[in-house]
Amino acid sequence: MIKVEIKTTQNRYPVYLRQGILPLTGRFLRGCFSPCPVLLITDRNVFGHYGEICRKSLLQEGFKPIVAVVEGGEKDKSLKSASKLYSYAMEEGLDRKSVVLALGGGVTGDLAGFVAATYMRGLPFVQVPTTLLAMVDSSVGGKVAVNHPRGKNMIGAFYQPSLVLADPVVLKTLPQREFTAGLAELIKYGIILDKSLFRQFEHFALTCNKQPQEGQESIFLQLNNTFTLLRFIAKAVLIKGRVVAQDEKENGLRRILNFGHTFGHALEMATSYEYYLHGEAVAVGMIAATRLAARLKILGEKTAERILALLFRLNPPPPPPGLTAESVLNALPADKKKEGRELVFILPSAIGKTTVCKSPPVEELSAAINEYLKN
Ligand code: NAD
Ligand code: GLY
Repeated sequence: MIKVEIKTTQNRYPVYLRQGILPLTGRFLRGCFSPCPVLLITDRNVFGHYGEICRKSLLQEGFKPIVAVVEGGEKDKSLKSASKLYSYAMEEGLDRKSVVLALGGGVTGDLAGFVAATYMRGLPFVQVPTTLLAMVDSSVGGKVAVNHPRGKNMIGAFYQPSLVLADPVVLKTLPQREFTAGLAELIKYGIILDKSLFRQFEHFALTCNKQPQEGQESIFLQLNNTFTLLRFIAKAVLIKGRVVAQDEKENGLRRILNFGHTFGHALEMATSYEYYLHGEAVAVGMIAATRLAARLKILGEKTAERILALLFRLNPPPPPPGLTAESVLNALPADKKKEGRELVFILPSAIGKTTVCKSPPVEELSAAINEYLKN
């Protein structure tokens, strides 16, 4: 078992990473809480796969699981869904001695965390991530939110969990496309902060079996359920933990975790959250940001090519028909990193290093988007 300790101003909590930890959820909760009601929030899909395992393990340790199944998907990350969950929590008599547990991907984690942060001004919160993206990113660091029609994650809080339990065995049932989307967030850490992690991915891309199995769209799928993946996840959690420990509320350093997200969120918004998976939009966003960095001479051509070559191994989706540079540019100002009217981009300046770029020329932004649209 790998344990990573996350230290923030709010609290200090462990992330346990272990094959087969899911059926032990109750036991790990007992290490933190006395038996109490647990609002287990999950989506329909995940409930079908793992809901009973999690519920039973809570029962076995004397907790009272109260299961709330949401539909899932980005549209469910809304104030409406949160409101339904508050009503359910009230009906079930949840009080401040109860716990909220998120079992699922980033959507469930963000929504459940938002409910945990706001119901009765805050209930203890546990994350049990079931997607690769949630394991390497969203379950750690305490960003919880719901979307607003005018922008993604616009209403939220920094609210740290008390415990994170990640079981890579559950990734066996994760659709391949979702797995690849999670890898984009994993590779992100290599590009922005860790040259050696980047090199390990490059090495994997070069040396792994070059013939993907039938139906596989990315060579990285071969990583699923390997020890290497476990080590990559642990590394990502360590890196994220270090960043969050230094800048929990994103006043500076933490912004680098948004590499690829300014373009990515705009792409998601311009396509009404219906075309890209979040990690796919981030992958395309990282490609656009790398090209922008090269255009602005912040990043050397050769290094840009190396980063792009690795990102293209993820087989990011092509642009949907009808998507225009204008619609993406129009969606950019919804970004939360914006300072007044200035757009803020995190751009790579070398492998493992980034720089903050404020209000790059619109022609360069447009050119970086068009390079993607025309391919
Ligand atoms: P998701 O939660 O929608 O999960 C993806 C899909 O996989 C869903 O259909 C889900 O039902 C299914 N699924 C989950 N686990 C499964 C499993 N083990 N087996 C089979 N199916 C499974 O999406 P996601 O990619 O995990 O998260 C995306 C969300 O995370 C976005 O809303 C994004 O904004 C947010 N996010 C938050 C942070 C943060 O720091 N809070 C960071 C990154 C992303
Ligand atoms: N996913 C970006 C962050 O947690 O800051």
